[in-house]
Amino acid sequence: MLKTAALLSILCASFEFSAAQLNTLAQAAGKKYFGTATDNPELSNSSYVAQLSNTADFHQLTAANSMKWDATEPNRGQFTFSAGDAIVAQAQAHGQLIRGHNCVWHNQLPSWVTAGNFNNATLLSIVQTHCMSWDVINEPFNDDGTFRQSVFFTTTGTSYIATALRAARAADPNAKLYINDFNIEGTGAKSTAMANLVKSLKAQGVPIDGIGIQAHMIVGEVPSTFQQNLQNFANLGVEVAITELDVRMTLPATPALLAQQSKDYQTIITACKRVSACVGVTLWDWTDKFSWVPGTFAGQGAACPWDENFVKKPAFQGIVNGWNA
Ligand SMILES: *[C@@H]1O[C@H](CO)[C@@H](O)[C@H](O)[C@H]1NC(C)=O
Ligand SMILES: *[C@@H]1O[C@H](CO)[C@@H](O)[C@H](O)[C@H]1NC(C)=O
Repeated sequence: MLKTAALLSILCASFEFSAAQLNTLAQAAGKKYFGTATDNPELSNSSYVAQLSNTADFHQLTAANSMKWDATEPNRGQFTFSAGDAIVAQAQAHGQLIRGHNCVWHNQLPSWVTAGNFNNATLLSIVQTHCMSWDVINEPFNDDGTFRQSVFFTTTGTSYIATALRAARAADPNAKLYINDFNIEGTGAKSTAMANLVKSLKAQGVPIDGIGIQAHMIVGEVPSTFQQNLQNFANLGVEVAITELDVRMTLPATPALLAQQSKDYQTIITACKRVSACVGVTLWDWTDKFSWVPGTFAGQGAACPWDENFVKKPAFQGIVNGWNA
């Protein structure tokens, strides 16, 4: 008797678990998509690709690397889109949306740009040629809200931002144009700087459709102002999206850390659900197997909702709970 009851509750629990699907729930909450980043080398794992193609969970893909400047314009005027196109083809085969990522960023920038000693006008024309769409501006700010001293800022001031956005709009009138950054998850100096930039771009008539909040979080450290901050951005008259979500921890992963991580995912998803201008959420890959975290933050990891063997973690249920909140 006891055994049957236990078995039944396990069966029910696992049924509930597998029936809940992240994109289906996001769309039921009025969002455009739930999605994930992916990268070209990962596409050789057929079980990975099977889950990546599961549109009940993922209706949007972001290329983690293959659309960055060093990949798409390794030499001036020499564009190579083959790796980016492979991600687009993977998405199109399953009717998934693509987030173009990214156009202007201070990292993964070829040296012909950083060391070219271009003057203002030439660098602006290089930016114009390069920017076709997407997360047009990536990480323009320092954490204190001042502008990052990238080659673009030191050469052109903030002019490169308007130039890039206008070029992207001209190249693809239908693409939603975003500025994307990290450490703008809660209110504070950097979020205020982002809001001021967007206000000033709108006042100048520069096309800007959205603010991307990366949300590379640490377990237990989701700011209490997360939802308020999303709403503050939305109040500027732009859409918002959570573009690179993961929640890392110091390894080893313990049940307590995994439980807190589940709550953190839930808090973030609930905030997006409650702010109507939040159009969607993208994981920075769905499995720990391909997470960027261990390679970047020594001793940390386990940041994604599926583990290294593609088994769902409590974080998956946290996302489900967030959409159901
Ligand atoms: C760069 O050129 C633009 C467009 O002519 C101008 O608005 C901007 O002030 C210039 N920036 C600098 C730092 O000279
Ligand atoms: C894909 O990844 C899974 C999970 O780590 C692994 O078990 C499997 O062997 C991999 N498959 C291929 C074809 O590499």
